[in-house]
Amino acid sequence: MIVVFGSTGTIGSEVLRQLVEQGPPVRAVVRSQQAADRLAGGSTEVVRADLADPGSLPAALAGADRVFLATPASAEQVRLESNLIDALAGSSVPLVKLAALGFDAVPADQAIALAANHGRIVEHARAQGVALTVLAPSGFTSNLLASAGTIAQGALYGSAGDGGVAWVDPADVGAVAAHVLTSSGHEGATYSVTGPDLLTFAQLAELLTAELGREVSYVDVPAGQFAQTLQGAGLDAWTADALDELHQLYRAHLSEVVTDEVSKATGRKPRSVQQWLAEHAAAFAG
Ligand SMILES: NC(=O)c1ccc[n+]([C@@H]2O[C@H](COP(=O)([O-])OP(=O)(O)OC[C@H]3O[C@@H](n4cnc5c(N)ncnc54)[C@H](OP(=O)(O)O)[C@@H]3O)[C@@H](O)[C@H]2O)c1
Repeated sequence: MIVVFGSTGTIGSEVLRQLVEQGPPVRAVVRSQQAADRLAGGSTEVVRADLADPGSLPAALAGADRVFLATPASAEQVRLESNLIDALAGSSVPLVKLAALGFDAVPADQAIALAANHGRIVEHARAQGVALTVLAPSGFTSNLLASAGTIAQGALYGSAGDGGVAWVDPADVGAVAAHVLTSSGHEGATYSVTGPDLLTFAQLAELLTAELGREVSYVDVPAGQFAQTLQGAGLDAWTADALDELHQLYRAHLSEVVTDEVSKATGRKPRSVQQWLAEHAAAFAG
């Protein structure tokens, strides 16, 4: 039984979809009855549990052979994921955890908040003796959906200067996860999962312009002002600060990494931003 935590999310839903296609027994862990109802009826077993409630985890993990874990970046992330690690401790059940590209480039106490969360969680898993595989993807193409409102008005905001990112399609992250969850020899490994090409935000705007058939321009918010812009758009302070830090790493060209992990896991090329845009153009119609 492969147990998927985060199964309603961007990556977890892809992991679930691709595991179901491949056929091993899968259990989706969800928090809400609404999500449980949505997933019910197929071949997937559905169990309700909450990572904030350690008492709900043993039932979700009963009979697990492998576990996938993705949770949102937040101030609560270390606590939530550590609860699952504590529930797995001493069980020898392998855990595949979603982290982020370069999360371990510097020690957690010097890292940006998004990376520090993952560094602390991985340290905790190792201290607890959990058999861990880490997937560390680059920025998701689907992040553009969060900017759909401004893109519809012709502007893509960022603070990354001319830094490049090898944007990865969530379907490809899901494919690598499904491969790791259904084959052996991955314990202890960290896989950096990226898309095929480094693209700046200005180049993303050009691809949007070409796909949508109307002008989309990149607006580069100066370093130090992006968090304020994001809070003005409704993000909470922790997330706005974390994304500002991330964009300054992009600006410093520190995320310019392209790997071949998608090809190695799937035997095909990683999907391009153009492919993802062609499938999601309707989301930017306004
Ligand atoms: N966005 C990027 O470009 C990017 C790049 C690299 C790495 N990452 C990493 O990706 C991770 C986020 O993955 P994602 O985008 O797939 O997340 P997501 O779409 O926000 O989904 C998060 C999932 O976690 C579940 N969840 C939240 N709180 C929970 C709780 N207390 N108990 C059980 N389940 C809970 C959510 O369930 P509900 O439906 O119940 O809320 C949802 O299924 C972060 O660690 C981030 O650092 C992101």
